[in-house]
Amino acid sequence: MASGSSQCNKIKPVIVVHGGAGAVMQEYEDRYRAGVKKAALGGYDILKNGGDAVTAVEEAVVIMEDDPHFNAGYGSVLNEEGEVEMDAIIMSGKDLASGAVSAVRCIANPIKLARLVMEKTDHLLLTDRGASQFAKLQGIPEIPGETLITERSRERWKKNQKPGSNPVASQLGLGTVGAVAVDSEGNVACATSTGGLTNKMAGRVGDTPCIGSGGYADNNIGAVSTTGHGETIMKVVLARLILHYMERGMSLEEAADEGLKYMKTRVDGSGGVIVVNSAGEWTAKFSTKHMTWAAVKDDCLQCGIHQGDNEIVPLSEIL
Ligand code: GLY
Repeated sequence: MASGSSQCNKIKPVIVVHGGAGAVMQEYEDRYRAGVKKAALGGYDILKNGGDAVTAVEEAVVIMEDDPHFNAGYGSVLNEEGEVEMDAIIMSGKDLASGAVSAVRCIANPIKLARLVMEKTDHLLLTDRGASQFAKLQGIPEIPGETLITERSRERWKKNQKPGSNPVASQLGLGTVGAVAVDSEGNVACATSTGGLTNKMAGRVGDTPCIGSGGYADNNIGAVSTTGHGETIMKVVLARLILHYMERGMSLEEAADEGLKYMKTRVDGSGGVIVVNSAGEWTAKFSTKHMTWAAVKDDCLQCGIHQGDNEIVPLSEIL
């Protein structure tokens, strides 16, 4: 668990990112930490230069989609046919505008396409062939699907072809990525992107692109990005559930804990969430063994993987 709160009335920009909930193998810890720190710093750079929350969360997620250690963009897990199919969502808390894509192939950054759905169409979610056609129309380059595949995801796919393998258990340590932010105007936003579950059925769509499940943003309450087993997150509409608890007066930490607890007791699901509100408060909570996360506020970077972990580094020591 980690959290922070505003010390004065002026809104200080904040960004929080996650690189997925599950169980991170020790040998990969440093690389995950480096990945979320880079993403948080990339998003914060935009905020600190007066950029908006939507652009900041998009940038943070693009950085993680390009990082082969995360299950999004390059490094996505493979479906039962050995192919990458990706889901993503982005949402603006100012006007509740959102855009999402599901089961998209052969593009490097699904979150960029989700943003274009939000800004250039009258729809909230495009899928599969229609999403590809839209991507072409918007000038997003089509790339060979194989270029998104890492040796690690191919090995995992092969291992899960064996009889008796458990795709849900084997998902552990392969992180969906997400970001939430508040900009200096007090606008909040969220973005989430994933390759989904290893050896999922072709055409399976998880929680990530579903508004209220993979993420939600509303300036009146806050913004949430989720990670974990999609089918259980969708059953409780986790992102919106947490914001509902905040509307009822709970703090960010209480609401995140309550949402994760409800998912555990009601559908036996575990996962993780990052939350901000327009006052600049934030939290990162998870019911899994690990969740890689990083946050930047007040020119201070915080990062963790294990429960209770909170590495604090002043930006002056990094830049
Ligand atoms: N939470 C990612 C997925 O299940 O697709």
